[in-house]
Amino acid sequence: MAVEGSDQVRDTERLADDAAGVARAAELLRAGRLVAFPTETVYGLGADARNGRAVAGIFEAKGRPRFNPLIVHVSDSAAAERLVDLPEGALELARAFWPGPLTLVAPMKPGSGIADLVTAGLPTLAVRVPAHPLAQRVLAAFGGPVAAPSANPSGQVSPTTADHVLGALRGRIDAILDGGPCPVGLESTIIGFDGGAPVLLRPGGVAVEHIEAMLGCAVRSEPGEGISAPGQLASHYAPAARLRLNAVSPVPGEAWLGFGPDPAGIEGPALNLSPTGDLAEAAANLFAYLRALDAEQPQDGIIATAPVPDHGLGRAINDRLARAAAAR
Ligand code: TXA
Ligand code: MG
Repeated sequence: MAVEGSDQVRDTERLADDAAGVARAAELLRAGRLVAFPTETVYGLGADARNGRAVAGIFEAKGRPRFNPLIVHVSDSAAAERLVDLPEGALELARAFWPGPLTLVAPMKPGSGIADLVTAGLPTLAVRVPAHPLAQRVLAAFGGPVAAPSANPSGQVSPTTADHVLGALRGRIDAILDGGPCPVGLESTIIGFDGGAPVLLRPGGVAVEHIEAMLGCAVRSEPGEGISAPGQLASHYAPAARLRLNAVSPVPGEAWLGFGPDPAGIEGPALNLSPTGDLAEAAANLFAYLRALDAEQPQDGIIATAPVPDHGLGRAINDRLARAAAAR
C-alpha cells in the first residue's frame, strides 16, 4: 500500500538479478514505489519520473535537505530526445558515450510529463542512458523515465554495492535489485551547455579529456554551479572520519588509502585503490574503500590518502576526495 512518509518503516525487498526480479522492480516503479538498482556508476534510487508523489518519496528516503534536481534515466537516445532538446554538441556526446556514465543537461521539452520535483523547477533536465545491463532491463520493462539520484542518505558516500544501499536505506525504500558491485564506481560526468558551449558541471565516469577530444574544443568547468549544485556542497561525499589528502605516508593512528606502490612500514588499517596506479581500478574501489576504512576508524579518526594524478578519471577521484575531506 502507498507509504505515507519516511517515518513509516516498510520491508525492503531484495530482488535478484533475474527475470522475476526485473519484473517486480518494474511493477513497483509503476505503483509509485522506490526501487534501488545498479548502474555502471553507482546504485540509483529510482522512482517513476512522471509521478510527483513517487519522486517526493526519493527526497524523503534520502533525507535531502532541499529539493535538488535529479537525473532521469532512459533506455536510449530516442527516449532522451522525447524529453529534452539536445544541442548539437550534446547529440555528438550522446552518440559517442551513451549508453554510459555521462549525463547531459538540456532544455526540457514542453509536455515531457516529467514531474516538477525532478527538475526542482529548472527549465533544464538532466538525462542519462545507463550502460549497466540490469538498469537497461529495468528501464525496458518499466517503459518510462526513471528519476534516480545515488541511493545513499544525503551527504554520505555513494553506494557501489547492494549492501551499502541496504545498510543505510533498509526500511525506507521498497526494494533493491542486487546486481553486484558497480564497475565504474564513480558517478556520471555531467555536461551542460551554455549558449551551445559545453560546461563541466561534475567530473565523473567519462574523462573530460575524452569529451574534449570528441567535441574538438575545451570544456569549461563551472565550480560555482549554483542552483544545480548538491554535488558541489563542500562535504557532499563525507565519511565520518576526516581525510588528510596527498599524504606521503600515514602517521601512527591514521588509516591509509594508497594509490600506486605503498610506502614501507604501514601499521594501521590500510587499503590500496590500485597498487599498479590504474585510475579505472581506483575509481571502482574508491567509495567501498572509504567506507571500509571509515568503519575501522573512530569518529574523529583520520584517513591519510595518497596523491592521485589529476587527469582522466583521476580528476573525478580527486573531486570526490576533496569533498570528503572538506570540513563540516
Ligand atoms: O552516476 C550518476 O549520475 C548517479 C547514477 C544513479 O545515475 N546519479 C547521481 O545522481 O549521481 P545525484 O542526484 O546524486 O546527482 C545528480 C546531480 C546533482 O549534482 C544535480 O545538481 C545535477 O545532477 N543535476 C540534475 N539536474 C540538473 C539540472 N537541470 N541542471 C544542472 N545540474 C543538474
Ligand atoms: Mg549523489
